[in-house]
Amino acid sequence: MKKELLSKSSAMTVEVGKRLGHTLQGGEVLGLVGELGAGKTTFVKGIAKGLGVNHQHPVNSPSFVLMREYEGRIPLYHFDAHRLTEASDLLRLEQEIGLEEYLFGKGVSVLEWADRIKSLLPKEYLRIEFQHLKENERSLTFHPLGERYEKIVKAIKEP
Ligand SMILES: Nc1ncnc2c1ncn2[C@@H]1O[C@H](COP(=O)(O)OP(=O)(O)O)[C@@H](O)[C@H]1O
Ligand SMILES: [Mg+2]
Repeated sequence: MKKELLSKSSAMTVEVGKRLGHTLQGGEVLGLVGELGAGKTTFVKGIAKGLGVNHQHPVNSPSFVLMREYEGRIPLYHFDAHRLTEASDLLRLEQEIGLEEYLFGKGVSVLEWADRIKSLLPKEYLRIEFQHLKENERSLTFHPLGERYEKIVKAIKEP
């Protein structure tokens, strides 16, 4: 079942991401959807904290490199499909970067602009929609696709 949270600050979005990150065990796929500035990267910073990623490596949007890997208690694979516009980009992501190996790997894969690479996503993943409501307000809607993600979403509590 889907769950919607209201975030009133970027710190709160980080906190929700951190709590979610804490519950992850590796192998999960999170697909983030929402316009520019909606809070996707802010949320990934929280996930990184929850996964125990070293603070020395700040999480930024990997737009130009498509993917960044961070070491933590569990590795974080951070993808950003924002600049993916052509079919050749999809091929690059598939063949050059080897997306599948990450999606089915031991780390947590987080994909910003997941809708742009929908055809490459696994059948089961956690879809998270971000909406820009007001200057500092965002809504986060969690749509679990698959049993594993249903459990994860059930455990999410409002900070
Ligand atoms: N409640 C909130 N949640 C997330 N970000 C917020 C919030 N309120 C304000 N912001 C600001 O909005 C911007 C979101 O940017 P970012 O996380 O990079 O978005 P995206 O990756 O979706 O483009 C940041 O500057 C952040 O500080
Ligand atoms: Mg971003």
